Amino acid sequence: MNFHIMTLFPEMVMQGLNTSIIGRAMDKGLISIEAVNIRDYAFNKHNKVDDYIYGGGAGMLMQAEPVYLCYEAIEKRIEENRSGPEFFTENRNNDKDNNKKCRVVYLTPQGEVFTQKKAQELAGEDDLILLCGHYEGIDERVLEEIVTDNISIGDYVLTGGELPAMILVDAVSRLVPGVLNNEVSAEFESFQDGLLEYPQYSRPEIWHDKRVPEVLLSGHHANVEKWRHEKALERTRERRPDLYDKFIAQ
Ligand code: ADE
Repeated sequence: MNFHIMTLFPEMVMQGLNTSIIGRAMDKGLISIEAVNIRDYAFNKHNKVDDYIYGGGAGMLMQAEPVYLCYEAIEKRIEENRSGPEFFTENRNNDKDNNKKCRVVYLTPQGEVFTQKKAQELAGEDDLILLCGHYEGIDERVLEEIVTDNISIGDYVLTGGELPAMILVDAVSRLVPGVLNNEVSAEFESFQDGLLEYPQYSRPEIWHDKRVPEVLLSGHHANVEKWRHEKALERTRERRPDLYDKFIAQ
């Protein structure tokens, strides 16, 4: 899976994603992440990419043209990569995927709120373009032309789309086969089945006078599973009644 991040702060994005599990996934070639600087597509000698807002109002807006040129360059490269040798077969004109434009996700507080379900949906893509806004946002006309998905990471406003993009890359990457060492761990954790995860314990058996629940030491697999399911239900009901109601109704 290849992520292409359009941003004014490529170092911020790359530094944030270069470590730990995502860094290793990149090293192994399971995912690739490129951060493309929108400023490289500025069309004036001062490399300016923002301007005043028509109609007045505080702040500046990112202009349409540099964003569009940046997008075009990325899309062209993706198409070239997809047009490898297999593209020149008899199937060429029947293979819709080769001509399909890549999804472009705009990170914005005005988008649909990001969920595990959306992460799973996006993990099915080969390439994903993520667009990070800054200042007061981006000229609406280019958004209309290129954006396929508007995504928010929650009902609060950040200074830019870089942190949200990093969150999305992290959540989607860990669903790519091979990225997590333990394949089952993505399956059984919070949200995957609509419930929060049960509490977990490691050594020692007693810490600060607190004992690990007896059932977890019993070696009785069925009882452990039953206990975990009960705890997951209890925790979800207490902490996220909205999720609990949905789970019970399904
Ligand atoms: N940009 C600024 N705030 C944001 C948010 N909450 N989600 C996604 N992108 C944003």
